[in-house]
Amino acid sequence: MSGESTLTPTRILVVGAGGREHALAWKLGAEPGVEEVIVAPGSDAMAALPRVRRLPDVDPLDPGSVLAAARATVAELVVVGPEAPLAAGVADALAADGIPVFGPTAAAARIESSKAFCHQVAAAAGVPMARSGAFDDAGPAIDFARSLEAAGRGVVVKADGLAAGKGVTVASDIDEAVAAIRVAVTAGPVVIEERLEGREASLIALCDGREAVALPISRDHKRLRDGDAGPNTGGMGAYSPLPDLPDASADGLLDRFHRPILAELARRGSPFRGALYAGLMLTADGPVLLECNARFGDPETQAILPRLAGPLGPWLLAAARGRLAAAGVPSPDAARLPVLPEATVAVVLAAAGYPEASRHDDTIIGLDRIAVYGALVFHSGTVRSATGGYRTAGGRVLAVVGRGDDLAAARDVADRAAEWIVFDGAQRRRDIAADALADGPTPGSSVEAGP
Ligand code: AMP
Ligand code: GLY
Repeated sequence: MSGESTLTPTRILVVGAGGREHALAWKLGAEPGVEEVIVAPGSDAMAALPRVRRLPDVDPLDPGSVLAAARATVAELVVVGPEAPLAAGVADALAADGIPVFGPTAAAARIESSKAFCHQVAAAAGVPMARSGAFDDAGPAIDFARSLEAAGRGVVVKADGLAAGKGVTVASDIDEAVAAIRVAVTAGPVVIEERLEGREASLIALCDGREAVALPISRDHKRLRDGDAGPNTGGMGAYSPLPDLPDASADGLLDRFHRPILAELARRGSPFRGALYAGLMLTADGPVLLECNARFGDPETQAILPRLAGPLGPWLLAAARGRLAAAGVPSPDAARLPVLPEATVAVVLAAAGYPEASRHDDTIIGLDRIAVYGALVFHSGTVRSATGGYRTAGGRVLAVVGRGDDLAAARDVADRAAEWIVFDGAQRRRDIAADALADGPTPGSSVEAGP
């Protein structure tokens, strides 16, 4: 990075309360030049980080409340973590007030908040996605599903709007698809897609409206149980890098997916500033876009931020100000953020009953052992109890992140550390990154290593 790109935000407001925001606060709070990271509403675990202050009373869904917090804390940069505040117009309110915000306007965030809109933008941009149709009523949706079946294709049923990764049914037969359609239309429009086969990859890029710079590629594990069984969740674990899609692949993928989408959104008058997340399916015919998110992934963020070799804050600020070009992006050595050569594996521990109805208030033990293993832990759904420990607060309770020279070593650290964390009914996958290990050794990172 050069010139004004080296501007470091000294006071950063992070909006959100989950594990992704915990990882962001951990990373940003440790960077040179950062005086304070303010988290709103944040969590008890985030407040325990050095240089992090919590504003628990901020309503992340109320643009006025977030704007007031940004003004009161004299934040030089606001980073919006979750999708719901973006869809509620939090970034619009901050931008209108001249406060640099990393996170798209509500109009640009429709790329995530409406799957039908994502398909329209991708089609106009020439970005490959699964064959699909959008419907308000069950009848035509079922007809379309049957036509896919007749063509020998599987069917995927998706709620059009935001569903925290849980509004998707990958149907195993047409009866399941029809049943899912009947349920889904009662809540709003549905998108029906052809079912694609392949392994998935998450490629998140920092975008300034025109340009994009890639974070390391990672792989989420969406299903609840080992062997990709059980219902879809928000994500049960992630790892990085991918043996089958090395970090360097991002250069070509940005050209194929992110840049055309950025150009099309800009053409429509909704330039996208923030984290554009492409969920890719690596099919036999090449990568296909499954979905776009308008934010960092969770738990991908917990896996990829520990791999960054340098600071993140200056890049987020440059993107928020529409000035990635001034930071030298794109250039042969700045289409990707520099990474450390090490690998990471993030293992999620979810509450009993997740994803349908998760239980709260179970005592968590063993957190104090994590450091012994050199693992990191990021909290998504915990509260501090009166006695000083933590209790569960539902959902994906926390993620344990192992780091190592390769994926096998990182996975070993994550698994051993996760063994020590115990709460009633904890759900955890034991096969995060197992697919990669079956592929053989992880290729070394092809991007320059940090100091
Ligand atoms: P989405 O929220 O659209 O990414 O969907 C959540 C998950 O459902 C994805 O990560 C995939 O595992 C699965 N999925 C979504 N769309 C498809 C599709 N067209 N074919 C196969 N699996 C899909
Ligand atoms: N882990 C998937 C997502 O963040 O949407």
